[in-house]
Amino acid sequence: MESFAHELEVPGREDARLRILGRDDWRIEYDLSRVADVPTWTMYAPDLTEELARARAEHNVAASAAGVAARYIVEEAGTALGTAGFGMRGDRDFEVFYAMKPEGRGRGLATDAVLTIVGWLRRQGEQRVWLSTLDGNTASERLADRVGFVRVGAGVHTDGRPITEWLLTLPTASAPSDR
Ligand SMILES: CC(C)(COP(=O)(O)OP(=O)(O)OC[C@H]1O[C@@H](n2cnc3c(N)ncnc32)[C@H](O)[C@@H]1OP(=O)(O)O)[C@@H](O)C(=O)NCCC(=O)NCCS
Repeated sequence: MESFAHELEVPGREDARLRILGRDDWRIEYDLSRVADVPTWTMYAPDLTEELARARAEHNVAASAAGVAARYIVEEAGTALGTAGFGMRGDRDFEVFYAMKPEGRGRGLATDAVLTIVGWLRRQGEQRVWLSTLDGNTASERLADRVGFVRVGAGVHTDGRPITEWLLTLPTASAPSDR
């Protein structure tokens, strides 16, 4: 893969787009770290200070430049409602991640953001995308089902909590279903 897309339109949603997180976009990281269930279910630390949120944004920019991971802001009508992205898993595949502010939830925007990312990865020739969910995260499990991920295994998070591994097998970009 040569480089990550800087902006992705969300099919079927005129007002929505995914915009790659830049170093000035620390505020969404700051805000998400204050949403009660985001630190519970993701790698966001709770209650980031501005300094730590800025460092996290810098880290995202560096990871994207290195081709290791891309984090996008999920925007609707110019408002940042969450983040979604993907990072390398092992040396060949990518896994997706996502988190939404409460006002961005419950209307399929997170699902569409993940579908947008998955579609882009498929067009780059990726054939598999992974997802890990901490057991008990039913909102994320429902999203995984909607996107088409299937449960393929179980594991343990770094803190000892059980996780479920999900896999999405993508049709090749030249398949008839590619439109
Ligand atoms: C996981 C998370 C992003 C899911 O957010 P969400 O708002 O439930 O997901 P969506 O935006 O896809 O919304 C889907 C819900 O909106 C409803 N909805 C309304 N209109 C919809 C539409 N046009 N299309 C799809 N769903 C729609 C659906 O019924 C669905 O509700 P359901 O799950 O009860 O069936 C959110 O809960 C979150 O940020 N959690 C904390 C962070 C986290 O867990 N990240 C993942 C770690 S693995």
